Amino acid sequence: MADGNNTFLIDGTTPVQRLGFGAMRITGPGIWGEPEDRAEAIRTLRRLPDLGVNFIDTADSYGPNVSEELIRTALHPYGGILVATKAGLVRTGPDHWVPLGRPEYLIQQAHTSLRRLGVEQIGLWQLHRIDPRVPADEQFGTVRQLIDDGIIRHAGLSEVTVADIEAASRHFKVATVQNCYNLADRASEDVLDYCTQHGIGFIPWYPLAGGDLLQSALSSTLAKVAASHDATVAQIALAWLLKRSPVMLPIPGTSKVKHLEQNVAAARICLTEQEFAELDASGRT
Ligand SMILES: NC(=O)c1ccc[n+]([C@@H]2O[C@H](COP(=O)([O-])OP(=O)(O)OC[C@H]3O[C@@H](n4cnc5c(N)ncnc54)[C@H](OP(=O)(O)O)[C@@H]3O)[C@@H](O)[C@H]2O)c1
Repeated sequence: MADGNNTFLIDGTTPVQRLGFGAMRITGPGIWGEPEDRAEAIRTLRRLPDLGVNFIDTADSYGPNVSEELIRTALHPYGGILVATKAGLVRTGPDHWVPLGRPEYLIQQAHTSLRRLGVEQIGLWQLHRIDPRVPADEQFGTVRQLIDDGIIRHAGLSEVTVADIEAASRHFKVATVQNCYNLADRASEDVLDYCTQHGIGFIPWYPLAGGDLLQSALSSTLAKVAASHDATVAQIALAWLLKRSPVMLPIPGTSKVKHLEQNVAAARICLTEQEFAELDASGRT
C-alpha cells in the first residue's frame, strides 16, 4: 500500500494511507462494553502498523470509551498513526445512539478523548451528528473553538448534506466527511462528488455493508469479478471504493486479524475500467 495513488493529504497537510481501519467493531455486541475477544482485538490493532495502515477511525461513543481505550493500550504513542475520533452521540444502552450537540458537551468530550487517547492534540475530530435540537451554527462554532484552542487539529462532519458542509465551512475548514456509502448504498453520491471537487476526505462508513454485500442485488456481478481476481467479495467492494474517488478513505471495521489482512490486501487489487463500470451499474439498481 505504498504508491502515491494510495495516499491522501487530510486538509492538504496530513498524509494517510487511503485504506484505513474502523475501530467500532472492537467493542461488545450493540457497540456496547468490552469486545468478546479482547486479546484478538488488541492483536488486530497491533497488526495495523505492520500492514502500513496509519488511519484509524474511532469515537467516544464506541463502547462508550472502550474503543479509544483499547487503541491507546495497543498503540500508544502511535508512531505516525492518525487516530481520528468523534463526538456528538450519547449512548443509553446497546444499539442506542442519541445526538447531543450542546457546546459544553462537545467540548467536554473532545477533552476526555484527548485524555483517553493520551495525545496532546486530536489529529482529526469529527462532529458525529448535527443535533437537530441545537442551532447548527452553535455546534460548528464549537468546532471552531476547539481548533482555536489547539484541542483538535483538523475537523470533519458525519452524516451530512452538501448544504451542511457549506454551512459548516463558514466556521471552519471541513477536512473530512463521513457518510454511509458502499457499492449497494449510494444515497450520498452528491456529497461524495462535492468532496471530490473540494479535496475533502470522504470516509464511507459501512463500506462492506456490514459484510452483507452478497445478499444484495449486485451479488452475481460481485462474485464474478471476485472470482476473476481470486479475491473475496469484501476485497472487491473495497477496491471499487478506492477507485471511485481519490478522496475516498474506506474504514472497514473488524475485530479479527484475518479479516484485517484481507481488507488491507484489497488496496493492491486493480479493477479494469469495465469491471468498475459493471459494478457501478449493478450497485445503482
Ligand atoms: N459516522 C458514523 O455514523 C459511523 C457509523 C457506523 C460506523 N462508522 C465507522 O465506520 C466503520 C466501518 O463501518 P462498520 O464497521 O459498521 O461496517 P463494515 O466495515 O461495512 O462491516 C463491518 C462488519 O463486517 C465484518 N467484516 C469486516 N471485514 C471482513 C472480511 N474481510 N470478511 C468478512 N467479514 C468482514 C466485520 O465482522 P468481524 O469483526 O467478524 O470481521 C463487521 O461485522 C466502523 O468501524 C466505524 O469506525 C461510522
